[in-house]
Amino acid sequence: MSNSTSAVKSAFNVEEIRAQFPILKELVHGKPLVYFDNAATSQKPRRVIKAESAYYATINANVHRGVHTLSTKATEAQEAARETVRVHINAKHAHDIIFTSGTTASINLAATSLGQLLLKKGDEVVISGMEHHSNIVPWQLACERHGAVLKVIPITDSGEWDLAQIPGQARNDVFTDKTRILAISHVSNTLGTINPVKKLIAEAKKKGIITVVDGAQAIAHLNVDVQDLGCDLYAFSGHKAYGPTGTGVLYGREDLLERMPPWQGGGEMIDVVTFEKTTYAKLPFKFEAGTPHIAGIIGLGEAFRWMEDYDKTAIAAHEHMLLEHATKELLAIDGLRIIGTAKEKVGVISFVIEGVHHYDLGTLLDQQGIAVRTGHHCTQPLMDRFGVSGTTRASFACFNTMAEVDALVAGVKKGLKMLR
Ligand SMILES: Cc1ncc(COP(=O)(O)O)c(C=O)c1O
Repeated sequence: MSNSTSAVKSAFNVEEIRAQFPILKELVHGKPLVYFDNAATSQKPRRVIKAESAYYATINANVHRGVHTLSTKATEAQEAARETVRVHINAKHAHDIIFTSGTTASINLAATSLGQLLLKKGDEVVISGMEHHSNIVPWQLACERHGAVLKVIPITDSGEWDLAQIPGQARNDVFTDKTRILAISHVSNTLGTINPVKKLIAEAKKKGIITVVDGAQAIAHLNVDVQDLGCDLYAFSGHKAYGPTGTGVLYGREDLLERMPPWQGGGEMIDVVTFEKTTYAKLPFKFEAGTPHIAGIIGLGEAFRWMEDYDKTAIAAHEHMLLEHATKELLAIDGLRIIGTAKEKVGVISFVIEGVHHYDLGTLLDQQGIAVRTGHHCTQPLMDRFGVSGTTRASFACFNTMAEVDALVAGVKKGLKMLR
C-alpha cells in the first residue's frame, strides 16, 4: 500500500525530528512543553513555517489570474503543492485533489454536492457511531434537505464497528437497496481505532454505493493510498499533518467529481457567466470558488514534502511504541479506564478516572507543561455510547518521546494526589 517508497527516506531519529519543531523549545508554566494534543492539531516543522512566510515575503500574488511574474510563481507553487499531495495519497490525477479549508469543509462539500446528485426521499446514508461531528452533521443536513434517512453502524465495547447489528436491519446486512452513500472515518479521533475501511468500501462498491472517507486522523499516521482503498472521496486537513491551519483536501475519483454539482459559486469556478446561465470550470477549479488560502496551500505542500522525507511505517512504529507504553503505565493507575481498546490503533489514548473530572485533570496537567485534550472531542454520540461526559485524551506525533509519556504518567499521578 506504500506509495512513497521510491525516494530515499531519512532514518527515523526522534531527536533529529524534534530539532525541526521550534515550538518544542517553549516553556509552559516554566516547564518544558510536552505536546500531546496532536489529534486536535499537530505542531509545524520549521520548513513549513518558512515556506508559508516566504510566499508572503517573495511571491505574494493571486493565483490563476495575472499574466505577471508573481502571479505565475504563486500559481506554480500552489499547483506544485497539489502534485505533492497527489503523489502522497496516490491519486491518479492532480485535478482529483480539491483544496478546501479543512476536513469540515471537504465533508460539507461532499454532503451538499452528493446530496443534490444522489439523494431522494427514503434513500439511506450510512455512517458509524464513532464519527466526529464533522462527519455527522453535514450528512444530517443533506438527509433533511432530501428526505433521506441516516443509519448508524453501532460501536462495540472495544471501540470497533459492530457490523452485525445495524438497527432495523437483518444481521450482517449493513446496506439495503436504498443505501446511496457510506461516510466513515479511517481512524477515530477519540478512540484511535483504525477502521477496516478497505473491506467495507469493497462491500459498498458491490452495491453501487458511493463511499466517502474522513481521513483527518489517518493522513499523518498511515500510508494512505486512495486507489488501493478504492474510495470515491477522501477528506483530510492540512493542520493535523504538520501543515498550516485553514487548509484541507477533498480527493475525488475523476468521473464522480465530473458528475458532482459545485457547492459554492463565485470567481474562478466558472467557465462562462451570463445572467441566464453559468457554465463551470474544469476540475479541480469547479470546486474552488474564490481566492484560496495560497500561503497555507504552499505550506501544506511543504508539510507533505517533509512527511515524504521519512518512512511513515517507521513513524507509525515509533508512535505505536509510545501508545503501548502509555497504555501499560496508565492502566496501572487505580480507577483509570481506557475508552477505545481496539486491536488496531494509532497513537491516541482516551481515558476516564473514577471520581475525577477530565477538565480538572487537564488543567493540572497543563500546570506541569503537558498539553492534552479534555471533553467530548466533537464525538458526543460516542460519549453517550460509552456513558461518559468526556475523556482526557493524549494523542501522539512523530516528535513525541518515551520520556514525555513518563512525564504524562507522573503528571496524572501527581494530579490525582491533589484531586482525590
Ligand atoms: C476524525 C475527524 N474528522 C473531522 C475533523 C474536523 O477537522 P477540521 O476541524 O480540521 O475541519 C476532525 C478534527 O478533529 C477529526 O478528528
